[in-house]
Amino acid sequence: MSEVIVALDLPSGSEAIRLLDRLAEVQWVKVGAILMTREGPELVRVLVERGLKVFLDLKWHDIPNTVAEAVSAAGALGVSMATVHTLGGAAMMEAAAKAAGSRPALVGVTVLTSHDSASYSRAVGRRGVDLDREVERQSGEAVQAGLAGIVCSPQEVPAVRGVVGPERWIVVPGIRGQGDARGDQARVATAGRAAASGATHLVVGRPITQALDPAAAFRGLVEEARCSGF
Ligand code: C5P
Repeated sequence: MSEVIVALDLPSGSEAIRLLDRLAEVQWVKVGAILMTREGPELVRVLVERGLKVFLDLKWHDIPNTVAEAVSAAGALGVSMATVHTLGGAAMMEAAAKAAGSRPALVGVTVLTSHDSASYSRAVGRRGVDLDREVERQSGEAVQAGLAGIVCSPQEVPAVRGVVGPERWIVVPGIRGQGDARGDQARVATAGRAAASGATHLVVGRPITQALDPAAAFRGLVEEARCSGF
């Protein structure tokens, strides 16, 4: 069954804690660039002490030594999952995987869910990139380097599963209900569709954090994922 990870993209740690006080059943939270920059590692410690599994999503893309040291620091903080960019290359991913050992689970960010083919093709200076094939290609590199999973859009999950095998994690942002605003996300699907296609973790931010009733929104997503899960 897919697990729902709440992306804490909020302006302050105190707002994140207030939200979590309303989400009694949540097990996984994601701390990204916004809260890490505002609050630093102390917030991660607080979340870990609350018994939450923390996904530290800083999407590292740097030289191998720097990324490996950052991964070790995340492990020492008690982080359960962290991200590197697969375009950082094989040597970077291998160094990161070696530094991680069994924790944190390192997952490789492939093509950001905010890209469509046109914007990604422009970013990499190639014409008409087929995003399914590109995500498959990057997933293969990540598996070879020893990463524990992949971050991709819900639309590529079946293709990625074929590359990474049955055990690795497939983590998908870009979760939107039928009536939800897409915002800056381009490649989206519902929680039900993402779960049915075999994603192991669904990352959801604004559909929960901006809901009038975040607890009801969270429960609805968990239920949708449970009913549709593979
Ligand atoms: O608010 P929303 O549900 O769009 O949030 C999605 C979260 O997932 C954000 O925190 C974003 O940084 C993250 N993410 C993403 N696309 C990726 C990787 C991570 O949207 N490819």
